[in-house]
Amino acid sequence: CELGPTMVIYPEGVWYTYSSEADIDEILARHVLGGELVDRLLLEPGQTRPRRTDPPRLTLKVADVSLTAPAVKRFVLRSPDGSDLPAYLAGAHIDLFTESGLRRSYSLVGDSADRGQYVLGVRREEDSRGGSSWVFDQLSTNSEVTASVPRNSFALAADATMHTLIAGGIGITPILAMGHELKARSEDYHLHYCTPSEVETPFLEEVRSVFGPRVTFHHDGGDPAKGLDVQALLAESVPGQHIYVCGPASLVESTRLHSSHWPEAAFHSELFAVEPVIDEPPNEAFDVFLSRQKITLSVPTERSILEVVRDAGVVVETSCEDGLCSCCRTRLLGGEADHRDHVLSSAEKLANESIMICVSRATNGETLILDL
Ligand code: FES
Repeated sequence: CELGPTMVIYPEGVWYTYSSEADIDEILARHVLGGELVDRLLLEPGQTRPRRTDPPRLTLKVADVSLTAPAVKRFVLRSPDGSDLPAYLAGAHIDLFTESGLRRSYSLVGDSADRGQYVLGVRREEDSRGGSSWVFDQLSTNSEVTASVPRNSFALAADATMHTLIAGGIGITPILAMGHELKARSEDYHLHYCTPSEVETPFLEEVRSVFGPRVTFHHDGGDPAKGLDVQALLAESVPGQHIYVCGPASLVESTRLHSSHWPEAAFHSELFAVEPVIDEPPNEAFDVFLSRQKITLSVPTERSILEVVRDAGVVVETSCEDGLCSCCRTRLLGGEADHRDHVLSSAEKLANESIMICVSRATNGETLILDL
């Protein structure tokens, strides 16, 4: 939008600006019918597509680190000069960039009204690819770290009359921020917090302080069958009530399953890890056309769109590379996608306007046109 009125001609992916109907007629007549570039209306002379701008980065200083549960640390990050940080709303996350170039997403835990600091919860994953272990082991008080600005794909619904929050383990992080915000707004809400035991409950004291009587702890001793009865909790669909779940895949999928009779818009989830899909159909090979680059690439069965695009030298920002974070979300300009991510809603998947290129593929081997 910042480019003003624009027109893009596909499949070439040439971008024009215009200021009158006469300009549009000229583009249609000379480019679409005549097959020539209309130099005077290109975004800038010689420019055939919008320039990519580097996303803003923050340099943050670690102000405090403490252990909040076994293998879970609480990090407080501030700007080095103490100035206010970019604002965010509950449910948002930032990405931290490790020394080796990995990028990892962490939900913001604290009170979004406090512009002076970001609070994160980081669990040291045993099978970490290096991201969480670097943050957990290497960052200490006074360390500096590069971060993205906050982004939010798990926001509170503005029209909800009651918020039912379900957290599993480290999945408490965005939910705790929601508690701060709901409390400040004097809204109706209740948290069900599932962990193996009290000592293995991240942010226990903060949760007690923020939620007070509005939290029920479910300690299952490591056996989910002895934990929260999600089916009973969600048995009745209540108009105006929204459900938010964050935690391991089993908890999120169970909540999704047992809320299938609720309106789809009332269900909100954020996954922290995916479990392997057992019966996934075999991959098909297909082509992608990158409209800005004007190149067609073949995606073989054993590779992702992301890998193929990277090999072609096109830079795409990613984080989880598991279809969880929406970092690689790309506009889909043509073709039907086989959406395999855990971010888009059913309605968004049906609309077929964007695709997570780290995991999703094409339906029936058809060519996808990507805004890259
Ligand atoms: S990189 Fe996270 S969804 Fe693709």
